[in-house]
Amino acid sequence: MTTTPVTYPTGALIDGQWITSATSFPVINPATGKEIARVPNLGAKETQDAVDAASRALGAWSAKPAKDRSIVLRRWFDLITANTEPLAQLMTAEQGKPLSEARGEVAYGASFVEWFAEEGKRAYGRTIPTTVASRRYITIKQPIGVVAAITPWNFPIAMITRKVASALAAGCTIIVKPAEDTPLCALAVAKLALDAGVPPGVFNVVTTMDAPAVGKVLTDDARVRKLTFTGSTAVGKALYRQCADTVKKLTLELGGNAPLLIFDDANLDQAVAGAMASKYRNAGQTCVCANRILVQSGIYDRFAAALVAAVEKLHVAPGTDARCTIGPLINADAIAKVEALSADAIAKGAKVMTGGTVNAAGPLFYQPTVISGVTRDMDIVREEIFGPVAALMRFETEADAIALANDTPFGLAAYLFSQNLSRAWRVAEKLEAGMVGVNDGIFSNEVVPFGGVKQSGLGREGAAEGLDEYLETKFICLGAIDA
Ligand code: SIN
Repeated sequence: MTTTPVTYPTGALIDGQWITSATSFPVINPATGKEIARVPNLGAKETQDAVDAASRALGAWSAKPAKDRSIVLRRWFDLITANTEPLAQLMTAEQGKPLSEARGEVAYGASFVEWFAEEGKRAYGRTIPTTVASRRYITIKQPIGVVAAITPWNFPIAMITRKVASALAAGCTIIVKPAEDTPLCALAVAKLALDAGVPPGVFNVVTTMDAPAVGKVLTDDARVRKLTFTGSTAVGKALYRQCADTVKKLTLELGGNAPLLIFDDANLDQAVAGAMASKYRNAGQTCVCANRILVQSGIYDRFAAALVAAVEKLHVAPGTDARCTIGPLINADAIAKVEALSADAIAKGAKVMTGGTVNAAGPLFYQPTVISGVTRDMDIVREEIFGPVAALMRFETEADAIALANDTPFGLAAYLFSQNLSRAWRVAEKLEAGMVGVNDGIFSNEVVPFGGVKQSGLGREGAAEGLDEYLETKFICLGAIDA
């Protein structure tokens, strides 16, 4: 396949057209504070246009054989992959993550397109043994319809492809509202989708600073049959309420407060590597980052010292610097939150073992930090840190560890490190989380179901479960069969 390098549209995408508007908003490089581009600040009217376009496009797209949709998605995967470098550069410019991580995210994002291109062909129904001689029972899977997706800034490509590829593979059409901090990656992958042959109206992108106005149209319109959202629990709850009147299906991937448990019988090197990967990936800005590192007394001091040694090797710099392992945080609010949580912990008796300040690289760069002696009364134990700060808590027994780990309304990811297989299995079963990493700090990929329990959300993304989220099951009863 011949490819042309991706260019970055700065218009929004509605019905296959690049839209401009009277007002626009800036996209800022968090490493430099400089404006990269401006994109349209769309409102309710354009959002309605996008829903109209997605509704018009639904009939033809959903009627295509799954194999035809698969061919288009496979071309989209090829184009994303062929454009890894420019997409990664764009991501680092608008989101800040190190280029090596940005390249990894392009591959991660593309993997969902590849996976769902295949999985869409396997949207199987069932035949069910009858209860009456003259009847036959069958179920078929059908696309749910028009989908609205509201996506976050921390994974500005992968969180879009994870939703869009599954929706399109199922035969749905979609309207994406990307985060206002990172609209350019959304527009770039949407352009590649058009280049791959996704028809007008099937994939629309509404850029806006006015999330409530756009969200209201998307949630009020009865033609939108599903909302998929990744972001904070507070916003997720509001969207959940707003979707009640039209009884939409929901996938909510909300906040986490991941515990990472290290038992005395853990392999120390594995525990440190796992904690580093889980905590400091994307400068601590993932929903599955270890938020509380719970360490058993017998290994606590050795683990803390080894973690500090590893953290002090991290290199804080703009993501374009080849040595960078920690880029800037997304904006000033993120820095303020990290500072407030750290200050509260220190005021209540925790100790900074390393870091604890803004880095000289610029106002949005935070020094990777380890805080020891964290206790349950501290805000850092209840709130998602979303920054490069490891909070270490001490525990004595397995029962204490499980109680501490589950002492949160959230339940997205959890991690545990132990060489004892029985303990690992027993604890993994008892942790209240949608995903558990055993002796591993990063587990996300396209073939496994990603999602949470409790107030971390509803539904799963990726894997066969991720396709099902965009399908309805229809039962057909075939009567009057001559026996
Ligand atoms: C997220 O932070 O929401 C996603 C993280 C991942 O996919 O691993």
